Amino acid sequence: MTPASAAAPALDVEKVRALYPALSREISGKKLVYLDSACTALKPAAVAARLADFYANWGGCGGKRSTHLLSQQVETWLQASRQAVADFLRADGANEVVFTSGTTEAANIVCHAFPYGDGRRKVVITDLEHNAVALPFIEKARRGEIELAICPTKDGRIDLNVLDSMLDDKTALLAITHASNVMGGVTPAAEAAKLARRKGVKVFVDDAQYLGTHREDVSTLGADFVAFSAHKLGGPFGIGVLWGHETELNRLSTWKLGGGTVKSVAWDLKGPVEPVWLDAPGRFEAGVQNFGGAIGLHEALKVRESLPASGIRAHVGALVRRLAESLSRIPEIRVLGRPEDLEKGSLVTFAAAHPDFAPVDFNLYLNHELRGTFVAIRVGEHCAHLQHRRLGVDATVRASLAAHTTEAEVDLFADAVRSYAQEACHG
Ligand SMILES: Cc1ncc(COP(=O)(O)O)c(C=O)c1O
Repeated sequence: MTPASAAAPALDVEKVRALYPALSREISGKKLVYLDSACTALKPAAVAARLADFYANWGGCGGKRSTHLLSQQVETWLQASRQAVADFLRADGANEVVFTSGTTEAANIVCHAFPYGDGRRKVVITDLEHNAVALPFIEKARRGEIELAICPTKDGRIDLNVLDSMLDDKTALLAITHASNVMGGVTPAAEAAKLARRKGVKVFVDDAQYLGTHREDVSTLGADFVAFSAHKLGGPFGIGVLWGHETELNRLSTWKLGGGTVKSVAWDLKGPVEPVWLDAPGRFEAGVQNFGGAIGLHEALKVRESLPASGIRAHVGALVRRLAESLSRIPEIRVLGRPEDLEKGSLVTFAAAHPDFAPVDFNLYLNHELRGTFVAIRVGEHCAHLQHRRLGVDATVRASLAAHTTEAEVDLFADAVRSYAQEACHG
C-alpha cells in the first residue's frame, strides 16, 4: 500500500500488479522491473484476452459496410468504445471522438486540416513538444504554409507571460503538451488555453503522457482538440483518439480520404466528381478501421476506471518524489526539472554530469549486470529533439512510473544508478 494522502483512496498496488502478466514472468531467467511506461504502458491480461476473443471469434467488419449480424456486433462494440472514450474525457458526446492510429495521426490531422486563414497563419508550439506534434508543424512551416513560433521553456517550465506575448492576432493555433515526456511534471495547459482563447487562438492539447496517471476533463480544459494514444493507457497499439468540439472538428478540412468518409459522390460521367464529406467523426476515419484496437481500448479504459484516480496520482507522485530525491544525491548525474514539479508527473529524467557516465552503456548494465532482474528504461532523445537541443545534451536517461510501480523497484533503480556510476566513473 502507498502512504497516500488522507484524501486519496489508497491504491492496492499488489492488486494492480496482478493485472499485468508481464510483471510476474521472467525473461532469460530475470524478473522485469518496468520503468518505461512513458514509452508504452504494460498491457493488462484483460486487454489481451479481449483482443484474442475479438480476433478468434469475431473479427468481422464494422463501420456500416456489411450489415450482417457479425458486422452489427462489431459496429455496436466500436460505437460503445467511442462512447466510453467520450465518458472518460467527460466530453459532450461520441461524435466528438475520432479514432486515429495514435497521437501522431491526431496531431497530423489538426496540423494539415486546420482552416488557417483570416490573416491567421501562425502556430505556436513549445519546445517541450514531442516530435509527433512538433514535426508536422515544423515541416509545414518549412514549406512556407504557416509561420511557426516555438515558446522556450526553462527547467521544463512554461512561462505563461512569455507564451502570452507570442500569441497574437496572427496566431491560428497553439499546440501544447499537457505533460512532457522528457521533463516530467505537468504543464499549465488549461491556463495556456485560457490565454489563447482570449485572443481567438484555437488550442490543441497533447495528452499522450498526461493520461498515464492523470484524468482529463475536456469540459473544463478549454482546449478545442485533445489527442492521446491507447497504448500508453494499456490499450492496443495502432489506435488513438482525436477529441474535438463537434463544431471545431467540422471546421477542419479533409485529411486522409477513402471509404467511409463521404455522404455522397455526385458525377454525371462528364463533369467533375463532387464528393460531399461526412461530418466528424466519419470524415476522418478513412478505410476499414482498427475495430480490434477500438474494442481493446474500451477494455483498457474499464481496467483504468476500476482503479481510484486520486489513489494512482498519490502513489505515483510519492514514488517520483522518492526517486528524484535518491537520484539527486548521485553527483555523477543531473536530474532534470525541479523536484516540486516532478512529483506532479510520472517520470524522472537525468543527464550525465560526469564524462564517463554513458547512457547507452548504463542501459546495457541495467539489462545484463543486475542479479535476477533487468530494468526497462529509456535512453536517448525520446523523440523530443527540440527539448534536447534546449538542454544541450544528446541523450538523457528516463525512468517512468505507473500504478504498478513499487518503492522497491524505484529503490532498485536508484541503487543501480549509484553502482554503475561508481564502476564507470571511479572504477
Ligand atoms: C508527449 C507525447 N506526445 C506524443 C507522442 C506520440 O505518441 P504515438 O507515437 O503513440 O502517436 C508521445 C509518445 O511517446 C509522447 O510522449
